[in-house]
Amino acid sequence: MSPLINTLILLSLGKAVFSENVDILGGNLELKPDCITTNPPSSILWRLEKNKVADFDVDFGTDITYYGDFNGRTTLNTTTGELRIVGLKKSDEGVYSVDLDSKPCEKTYSLSVIKSVPKPEISVSCVDDKTYCNLTCNGDTADAEPVKYWWKVGEGNWETDWEKILNVTRSDSKPTQNNTKYTCKMKNAVSEKESEAVGPLFKPESVPKPEISVSCVDDKTYCNLTCNGDTADAEPVKYWWKVGEGNWETDWEKILNVTRSDSKPTQNNTKYTCKMKNAVSEKESEAVGPLFKPDAVPKPEISVSCEDDQTCILTCNGDTADAEPVTYWWKEGDGNWEKVGKILTVTKSDNKSNQNNYKYTCKLKNAVSEEEGEAVGPLFKQDSPSSRWAISSIAIISIVIIVIVITSALIIGFLRRKKTTVASLGAEPETII
Ligand SMILES: *[C@@H]1O[C@H](CO)[C@@H](O)[C@H](O)[C@H]1NC(C)=O
Ligand SMILES: *[C@@H]1O[C@H](CO)[C@@H](O)[C@H](O)[C@H]1NC(C)=O
Ligand SMILES: *[C@@H]1O[C@H](CO)[C@@H](O)[C@H](O)[C@H]1NC(C)=O
Ligand SMILES: *[C@@H]1O[C@H](CO)[C@@H](O)[C@H](O)[C@H]1NC(C)=O
Ligand SMILES: *[C@@H]1O[C@H](CO)[C@@H](O)[C@H](O)[C@H]1NC(C)=O
Ligand SMILES: *[C@@H]1O[C@H](CO)[C@@H](O)[C@H](O)[C@H]1NC(C)=O
Ligand SMILES: *[C@@H]1O[C@H](CO)[C@@H](O)[C@H](O)[C@H]1NC(C)=O
Ligand SMILES: *[C@@H]1O[C@H](CO)[C@@H](O)[C@H](O)[C@H]1NC(C)=O
Repeated sequence: MSPLINTLILLSLGKAVFSENVDILGGNLELKPDCITTNPPSSILWRLEKNKVADFDVDFGTDITYYGDFNGRTTLNTTTGELRIVGLKKSDEGVYSVDLDSKPCEKTYSLSVIKSVPKPEISVSCVDDKTYCNLTCNGDTADAEPVKYWWKVGEGNWETDWEKILNVTRSDSKPTQNNTKYTCKMKNAVSEKESEAVGPLFKPESVPKPEISVSCVDDKTYCNLTCNGDTADAEPVKYWWKVGEGNWETDWEKILNVTRSDSKPTQNNTKYTCKMKNAVSEKESEAVGPLFKPDAVPKPEISVSCEDDQTCILTCNGDTADAEPVTYWWKEGDGNWEKVGKILTVTKSDNKSNQNNYKYTCKLKNAVSEEEGEAVGPLFKQDSPSSRWAISSIAIISIVIIVIVITSALIIGFLRRKKTTVASLGAEPETII
């Protein structure tokens, strides 16, 4: 028992007050009388309540008598009257008084011996819906009372409300990540000890479905996208962003700064989605975008490249870098505009191109504008009527010549055969004729 009892406190009793110069370390007590008249006193008697503790009287010699349990732990200084007791016990408690020269001193001393506090442990008891929790700072404080309880929240200061139980509501515990750890401390007149920290006590609620708000500077060089939602009960929350068909990325920021140049290159990366995520949930916003209107399209110019007399490739040119997405339209002659593509391939055998004077025009179009180019064409040389006549004349002449040649040949051949027959049958020509 004695190792546990390591200190004391002295309480006031009426006007007889002793409250100073007490060596409490190691469980030692020193009581010093303040009413010495002769120096040294000729007799000294210390009592605890009615019982003698130590006794000295010069008339009976120089020996000091120590009584009962005090013998061996107690020393009396016969010059000063000071009483010193080591290894204080619970049984040492009570009111001490002293007589000097057989006269009682008015001042008395009330001693309490208490234990040092134990290292506390926090127990947590929450209501079912976790709206609040009782934290109880536990430890065996018997023989250590009076004990004060102190609490520390997160990185905050130690505060005492003298309560063994701390009622923590969900709303107290929410705002930041840091204030979710709780530590308690027990303290009495002679000692103090801290518990291990507990917490966080409450799981965050699931995140809400976020909504993106868009705020652009006047000239639309950049826009702030803010991922909004009431996250008060869901912290800590991380923010993720997705651009177009890209991957989800987290830079831990609620606000995304999108510049016009980031947003341009393709049609797909103009949509932005954000996501909130915490320990228990994640939710995506609807996509927003495109954020920036394209520039107006330029006036296109058609370039023509003919491989031979049969095929030509028409290209509708213009710097559309800031105007995307752009569509290309073509018109042939008096026909309708048709959405084709940047390149139009025309072959001579196309029915339309065989018609005279075909002109080709292209048009650029985007969400905010459209522009037509100058027409080009016709693309292929048509065969002229005179050359056609020449061809037919040559054909006719050729045929006439061929006919003449063949006819002449036949006539000549016939005449020759006739002459030969006459010569061979010269003896009797009458027979034949
Ligand atoms: C008694 O106390 C006096 C003054 O503090 C000191 O000088 C003296 O040595 C003490 N005597 C004993 C026996 O401790
Ligand atoms: C919290 O402590 C109070 C009083 O100390 C008690 O009435 C209540 O039932 C406790 N609640 C829980 C959840 O332990
Ligand atoms: C804890 O505090 C909340 C809000 O202050 C209160 O509603 C609740 O009754 C308290 N619980 C206890 C046990 O004191
Ligand atoms: C939370 O803790 C971190 C490091 O532990 C610290 O940098 C930050 O300032 C704390 N925040 C608050 C609000 O106390
Ligand atoms: C964008 O956000 C920054 C910092 O959050 C702010 O300084 C700026 O004014 C915002 N710009 C717009 C256009 O909202
Ligand atoms: C957004 O980013 C652009 C380019 O990185 C920068 O010039 C501008 O100041 C940024 N705006 C904000 C509000 O951060
Ligand atoms: C753009 O989106 C379309 C369909 O949504 C897809 O077919 C195409 O591959 C995407 N382009 C890029 C560059 O991601
Ligand atoms: C184009 O020519 C083909 C054969 O040469 C013909 O069958 C077709 O009807 C023509 N189409 C038009 C629109 O004239």
